[in-house]
Amino acid sequence: MHSPAMDHISMLAMAGSQRRRSFNGALLRAALERAPAGVVCREFDPSCLPFYDGDVEAAGDPDTVAELKTAVHAADLVLLVTPEYNAGLPAVLKNAVDWGSRPPRPQAWDGKPVAIMGATPGRLGTALAQRALRESLTGLNAHVMPQPRILLGGAGTLFDEDLSLTDAATAERLDKFMAAAAEWARRFR
Ligand code: FNR
Repeated sequence: MHSPAMDHISMLAMAGSQRRRSFNGALLRAALERAPAGVVCREFDPSCLPFYDGDVEAAGDPDTVAELKTAVHAADLVLLVTPEYNAGLPAVLKNAVDWGSRPPRPQAWDGKPVAIMGATPGRLGTALAQRALRESLTGLNAHVMPQPRILLGGAGTLFDEDLSLTDAATAERLDKFMAAAAEWARRFR
């Protein structure tokens, strides 16, 4: 029997660190492994984008920028996994937000369901980075999932040498987060 609730959700996932041993990259992979049935995931690497520059834009979107805009437009849900740098979000992720906010209208974030998470070895779990990211996206009329939140502090103790998630409590929270994110996306379809 066809049920709208079972329709698939296409999710675009981006991490704000491309560091080889990035905790946020590891968190993103753990989240994708826990995506509920019916969620189809695609990753986008924001470090492939040039830094936003109005002159570059005026000459026509570079291919990677066009790819980002198309991918965000096409996604039912965007998952952003952010490190915290100096009480804010990394430039590479903000740059993706900025390019996505540019014409043609409607810009890519307008009305887009977004889920945010982040990891840090520090204690506050990227609270400030997530707040900054949430504020930018809300200003762009994205629908940022309010709850549950994943603010992962002490990240150095939660993954093994291969950066696989070993902490059972975090795994359980991730399961709930990913299920909630899929439901969040369905609300806006
Ligand atoms: C950091 N780090 C950091 N951590 C934090 O919790 N709050 C902060 O404000 C900052 N500030 C900061 C600035 C800069 C420039 C760097 C390089 C790092 C530490 C950061 O959380 C840590 O390096 C993470 O491991 C980065 O994420 P990935 O690369 O592991 O995903």
